Amino acid sequence: MSPFSETILAWYSAYGRDLPWRRTRDPYAIWLSEIILQQTRIAQGQAYWERFMERFPTVEALAQAGEDEVLRLWQGLGYYSRARNLHAAARQIAVLGRFPDTLDGIKALKGVGDYTAAAIGSIAFGLPAAVVDGNVYRVLARHYGIATPVGSTAAKKEFSALAQSLLPPERPGDFNQGMMDFGALQCTPAAPLCPLCPLAGSCAALAAGAVDRLPVKEKGAAVQERRFDYVYVRFRGRTAIRRRGPGDIWTGLYEPLVCDQRLDGVAYDGGRIPRNPLGRFAPTASDQLPKDAMLLKAGVKHQLTHRTLLVDFYLWEPAEAPALPDGYVWIDEAELDRYAKPRLFELLLESLPR
Ligand code: ADE
Repeated sequence: MSPFSETILAWYSAYGRDLPWRRTRDPYAIWLSEIILQQTRIAQGQAYWERFMERFPTVEALAQAGEDEVLRLWQGLGYYSRARNLHAAARQIAVLGRFPDTLDGIKALKGVGDYTAAAIGSIAFGLPAAVVDGNVYRVLARHYGIATPVGSTAAKKEFSALAQSLLPPERPGDFNQGMMDFGALQCTPAAPLCPLCPLAGSCAALAAGAVDRLPVKEKGAAVQERRFDYVYVRFRGRTAIRRRGPGDIWTGLYEPLVCDQRLDGVAYDGGRIPRNPLGRFAPTASDQLPKDAMLLKAGVKHQLTHRTLLVDFYLWEPAEAPALPDGYVWIDEAELDRYAKPRLFELLLESLPR
């Protein structure tokens, strides 16, 4: 066993939290605790676990209950799909006749993913499966000096493999819970107790003075900026719209003519090329802004979660019926109300001269 794992086990024996579901090997009781603790802190979850165990001492009792009663007992914990899954899984187990004792069997229960299956499997059945949660990321990133941003697929792979390699097969449940508690009590996110840490001598982050910089968090998706023109075309009482396809925002909603704003034929990429204040560019072929379009409003800002749209509104009243780009159809202006539109399109309509 690695010195790291020995230290975690020794620390857990001395300082691990005394929790009621740790005094049993009843897989039902352990499973129940893991479902409750999925999105709930121990301080809050423990009272719920006790109430559930009192009202439903066995998985059969839970399986026989009505969903309403289960939901009522869950009241206040939030994420009610957990309660519905719990109830459904109890019925799965009742049908099986016993609690599944393999990782795949446990994972087949509703509401149980990789983390929960590893926790239940290791704690209740001694299965050699390492749990990987925020605590584990933090402890390992610091001790082994790993700067891979957590949240990435690469990190998941790297940290899982490392945790798995450190897992002592004879005490997987203690090791996993030791890692959870060590992360929660000792190697905490802010102000970890390094001067009192039994792993201080081998901690890479401590040696490098990088404890507060590890683990590295993946940056949230950057807010992109996108600029384009919305063009309301009007020809003999009709306008042109198109239904948006899947794969981007506003799937299934309708939009007016859209022109990319380009500089010298280069699509604006949201930041690097400053926008020409004189406005119009040398656009490329198909989506160029018509020369005789009239600017209604410039720089309308529309904020989406990961995107800022900066849009110029135009009215275009061509003398001749124009050919429409792919996907567009002519409709009577009076029928516009019948089409679902993003707010941005409504703003264009509101800016039309009356
Ligand atoms: N969080 C989720 N499962 C836990 C467990 N078994 N012990 C401590 N914290 C937990």
